[in-house]
This record gives sequence, C-alpha cells and structure tokens, in this order.
Amino acid sequence: MSPSETWSLNTTHIGRRVNVFETLASTNTTASELAVLPENDGVVVIADYQTTGRGQYGRVWQSRPKCSLLMSVVLNPPSELCRPAILTALAAVAVVEAIVDLSGIQASIKWPNDVLIRGKKVCGILIEKHGSAAVVGIGLNINQTAEEFIAAGLLEATSLEIESTRPIERRFAVERVIQRLDQAYEQVFSGERTAIEAEWKERIGLIGRRVLIEHMDGSTIVGQIREMQFDRLVLELEDGTRQMILPETVRHIFEQ
Ligand code: BTN
Repeated sequence: MSPSETWSLNTTHIGRRVNVFETLASTNTTASELAVLPENDGVVVIADYQTTGRGQYGRVWQSRPKCSLLMSVVLNPPSELCRPAILTALAAVAVVEAIVDLSGIQASIKWPNDVLIRGKKVCGILIEKHGSAAVVGIGLNINQTAEEFIAAGLLEATSLEIESTRPIERRFAVERVIQRLDQAYEQVFSGERTAIEAEWKERIGLIGRRVLIEHMDGSTIVGQIREMQFDRLVLELEDGTRQMILPETVRHIFEQ
C-alpha cells in the first residue's frame, strides 16, 4: 500500500522520510515490513486511524480518526542501543519534551512505557524488535475530549487538548515529537546518553522511594531505589544490601 502523503523533515536521522497513511491496521506492522531493509533506518510511519492498533502485553490501542498521533519509527541502532529499555526511555523523554514545547505542561514517565499528565495517561510506547532492527511505536492522545474518554470507560486517560489551555494542532504536534525524537536519538547514538538518562530518571521520580518491583517472571522484590540507569537499577533491600537489576527484567514498579 502506498502512503497518501510523504513528508521530508529537516532532521538528522529520524523523519527524513515520513510516510503518512489515512488508515492502517497498525503503524507498527507497516514499519516492521520496512525494517527488513537497512535503507529504511529512520523512516517514520504515521496513520490517521488504525483498525488493529497494538498496545503492551497484547492489549488493543484504539483511537478515533485524526485525533491522536499514531506513529512508528524504523530504527537500525548499533546493537548496544537496540534494547527496549533504552529505546523506550529515549522515546518517553522525547515525548515529554515535545509536550513541554507544545503546551508548557510538565509530564511524568511511568515505568516502563507511559507518559502521564497529572497522573493520567497521555501516551503509550511500544517497542518491537525485528532482528537487528527495532520499531518504536508511539500513541499520543492529542484532541480527544474528556467526555469521549468517559464514554469509552478510559477514566485514567487524558489528551493534550484536555490538559492544555492552548489549542494543539496535530500536524504541528507530530513534527515536534519527531524533532525531539531525532535529537534524543542523535544524543544517545553519539555516546552522550547522560542528559537523556538524567531526564528519564527525574521524570520517573522514584529515586529514594520505597517500591515493589515486579519482574517479568512474576517474582517480586521490595526495597528503596538508589539509582536508575539504562543498564541497571540499584535497589537497597531492607537489610541494607544492594541489588543490581537489569531494566529489561522489570515489568512494573509500584510505589509502596
Ligand atoms: C501501550 O501503552 O500499551 C503502548 C501503546 C502503543 C500504541 C502505538 S499507536 C502507534 C503504534 N502502532 C501500534 O499498533 N501501536 C503503537
């Protein structure tokens, strides 16, 4: 299927080609088809509407036409960056920065892949790996109303337009997110991960907090978070010992 429009943004890596579709099954699926060719590195796929949008853990991601940013980025990062923890973190930081640019609102990051405004979810991120390539899927609620979330039973969801006093133009928001993603990716790609890591840690806001960590295998552990980096979380246990935890092994972190 061919895109209805193609844009070319003045970015370094991500968004030099943007394929815009009216309707797709899932932008992640279309992006994964492009991911087989290395020359598609950095290509962005956008849809006004998805018929079978995917969320984390096999959940469905639904959105009325033309009121969300539904976007997937094809990436061929070096192997040390092709990790869900790093790609999720840099996408979350980029979305948080774009939200500040667009509305002046300070958003937070909820482990591992949600961006929240005043505790409500405004954006979800879905990373899918395809061999040495990865697809970074981003769903950002832009123009939905509070009434529509209530009618859909999504009481924990919000949109930029609900939270902002300024009107948000979708095309402008899309470009801002892509520009911020490109900047974040370039920084991490060139070995300058410290600033992105620091913002990610700050926006998650769990340093010094007592938490229960739930691992992917269902096991849990309680302690105080002492440090968070892309490579490890440092948890201080009740007996004072410290445990290093690989971010990819953590499904949820619950504040106690
Ligand atoms: C989540 O919070 O569960 C992640 C949601 C990710 C949704 C986006 S929308 C664009 C891209 N295409 C998909 O099918 N999913 C992601």
